[in-house]
Amino acid sequence: MAANGSLIFSADAWSGYVQQAQEHLPSSSRLLLIGLINIPTIIVLLNVTWQLIKPRERSLPPVVFHWFPFIGSSISYGNDPINFFLKCREKYGDVFTFILFGRRVTVALGPKGSNFVLGGKLAQMSAEEAYTHLTTPVFGKDVVYDVPNEVLMEQKKFVKVGLSLENFRAYVGMIENEVTTFLNTDSAFRTFQMDDINEWGSFHSFRVLAEITILTASRTLQGKEVRNGLDKTFAQRYNDLDGGFTPINFLFPNLPLESYRKRDKAHQAMSDFYVDLIRKRKTGESNEAEHDMIAALMQQSYKNGRELSEREIAHIMIALLMAGQHTSSTTGTWTLLHIADKPEVGEALYKEQVENFGTGIEGEFRPMTYEELKALPVLDAVIREALRIHPPIHSIMRKVISDVPVPPSLSAPSKDSTFVVPKGYFVLSSPAVSQVDPRVWRDSLEFDHTRWFEDDGVAQQAYKTYADENGEKVDYGFGAISKGTESPYQPFGAGRHRCIGEQFAYLQIGAIIATIVRKLELRLEGGMPAHNYHTMITTPKDPCDIRYRRRHFDLNGST
Ligand code: HEM
Repeated sequence: MAANGSLIFSADAWSGYVQQAQEHLPSSSRLLLIGLINIPTIIVLLNVTWQLIKPRERSLPPVVFHWFPFIGSSISYGNDPINFFLKCREKYGDVFTFILFGRRVTVALGPKGSNFVLGGKLAQMSAEEAYTHLTTPVFGKDVVYDVPNEVLMEQKKFVKVGLSLENFRAYVGMIENEVTTFLNTDSAFRTFQMDDINEWGSFHSFRVLAEITILTASRTLQGKEVRNGLDKTFAQRYNDLDGGFTPINFLFPNLPLESYRKRDKAHQAMSDFYVDLIRKRKTGESNEAEHDMIAALMQQSYKNGRELSEREIAHIMIALLMAGQHTSSTTGTWTLLHIADKPEVGEALYKEQVENFGTGIEGEFRPMTYEELKALPVLDAVIREALRIHPPIHSIMRKVISDVPVPPSLSAPSKDSTFVVPKGYFVLSSPAVSQVDPRVWRDSLEFDHTRWFEDDGVAQQAYKTYADENGEKVDYGFGAISKGTESPYQPFGAGRHRCIGEQFAYLQIGAIIATIVRKLELRLEGGMPAHNYHTMITTPKDPCDIRYRRRHFDLNGST
């Protein structure tokens, strides 16, 4: 037993135990023991031999070599998927299959690979089949991946109604206000509150951004009741629910573990909470509806005329909370970390704020409008660049529901044949790989927001194919969107499952960063933290503390 209590044996100790056991056992038991000890070795040998001698089916994409059956490449993928994909690409090309705890996952890399997966046909690939076991216990029944695809498309359309220009205009001030209150009251900003511009303090970037993100999302999209509940039981329920939204839950839908029980209990309580508040609004007992999503959803009906049920609204609200929280909070965190790592970026952002919103008195700013916030080139480029290097979702999956041929232009075994991904496999696209592909991007891993200013540079071209207002549009049932399936820049996915939260995310992250930059100078010591891929969303590893210093003396509450 190792000092830390874990079951780690040294090789010497292990062979000592085996030798002692052998000496004391009768010969038949000795043979059994030797057999047992060697079982893993035998399995590995058989598995390796099988991979080497088994004639390869020409129509199947190559399988990544692995020592252990069932486990396959799970460890390498889980520890660093991007590096794993890049190494596999060198060996097998853009299309290959790896084993993920018994599942066969065919990866399709590059813009053509993204097009294959994200632009896949409904009859061949299903997101519901890939995700429902993870999402339904958390979001709840009758929404998102618990319903047929055409119903999800309708539900996305309902949500888009709530993500309106009118609401966005109202949100900017609310977000500024929440961030300002947070800086003025949270213990992480004690040094800031001391009103001393020479003193440096520090905060845990990811923890702080997670808190600010949930506060601002609930103040805006989720509604006042949720915002008020955040200080009470809602926060605990959210944490328990979140504990059921991990890679383990994706791999093993049902385990007899406390976290699974807590997830189920929290889901029920949260669902009841939303239903209760919807009823109060209906009966007029609560008139908290401002510009929030619940108010918008309460007015929607399906194509067949049926209104959304209270439970459906409740579960859509939970889905939005979960979909937006980690993605936006990690993006905000990475953005802030880069600003702290490169003080000149912080200064460019600050200058942009002064030029656009300064009142002429040092440190005093007027509030931003949504239109003004959207038109800030430096802020926009900084967020885009953070999303390029750190897209929160590194793997987008679909389950293959009928055999699907791989287009020869993407990968083919020979001139006259094609690969086929069989029914039952998963397909995986990783825009994260294309977004840092050195064959596409200059200094691909370098944070350089100015690449977004180069007219007709790679970044602009990638963005055009992703989000060009005048480019090719498709309507999957939730309004026309840019096709974007073949762009090397896809932080919000593409195709029918493309994110509908993109504009809200830019608004939320933009308003948070602008408010912080107006008040604080930021610095990072020890360089950028590494990626942690053990969480559902790519987060920074510890340490990820940011040092800060107040820019101005207290200006009597001005923002
Ligand atoms: C889908 C990323 C914020 C709601 C997606 C997908 C990606 C993504 C990559 C596609 C998933 C797939 O194809 O399987 C992001 C990023 C965000 C963000 C990077 C922030 C920086 C949000 C927010 C909301 C939201 C704030 C809600 C307000 C959704 C919804 C879907 C989605 C409803 C559609 C799922 C589907 O059709 O299958 N997001 N998201 N996201 N996201 Fe986001």
